[in-house]
Amino acid sequence: MQITFLGHASLQLDISDRTIIIDPFISGNELAKSIDVDSLKADYVLLTHGHQDHVLDVEQIAKNNPDAILVSNFEIVSWFGEKGINGHPMNHGGQKAFDFGTVKYVNAIHSSVLPDGTYGGNPGGFVIQAEGKIVYIAGDTALTYDMKLIPETIGKVDLAIFPIGDNFTMGYEDASVAADFVGCRRVLGCHYDTFPPIALDKRAASNYFESKGKELLLPDVGESITI
Ligand code: NI
Ligand code: MN
Repeated sequence: MQITFLGHASLQLDISDRTIIIDPFISGNELAKSIDVDSLKADYVLLTHGHQDHVLDVEQIAKNNPDAILVSNFEIVSWFGEKGINGHPMNHGGQKAFDFGTVKYVNAIHSSVLPDGTYGGNPGGFVIQAEGKIVYIAGDTALTYDMKLIPETIGKVDLAIFPIGDNFTMGYEDASVAADFVGCRRVLGCHYDTFPPIALDKRAASNYFESKGKELLLPDVGESITI
């Protein structure tokens, strides 16, 4: 599985011949101007919650990829469904097998409203099982004991993708505890530096993880890692 950082909390997952875009916020992100939204291929678009900084480019990507399937909570899938976008609705605790792997929609402690003010359901995260690996995309969230349910019910996480920018989500110290909760020593950090309130001292964050015996991956925009 290849994971490409597209800036902020946006990611591209390539799993065998399937491409999954997560939380696309690219055209509004000055730090992601090297990424051309129109060049993105998508078989699936996964949305953790309804905030603008997670859904901005969904319509553009769906227009360019008319067969793409949107996966999110019921409220978000219904809202995009009214715009003619195909979706598969889920809700907390539900798991579904797709042709690239299995997705479980899990709790996040945050809020969720769509760009026009429509209620965006409860925010979530995704646990993806594919190619023998477990990847946990936490979405925007605080540290929560619910994370301990993931290794108990699914298995130890191979890679956790956590927000680390603080202010609106966990900061890196809590993200380090979250990594312990899910039995993972490798964290890909996201949701930092995009806006002034979430500016991050990257060196301090990396050093902190190292002091806890963990690895914090901070890929450049457009950079990929393989697990
Ligand atoms: Ni948010
Ligand atoms: Mn956000």
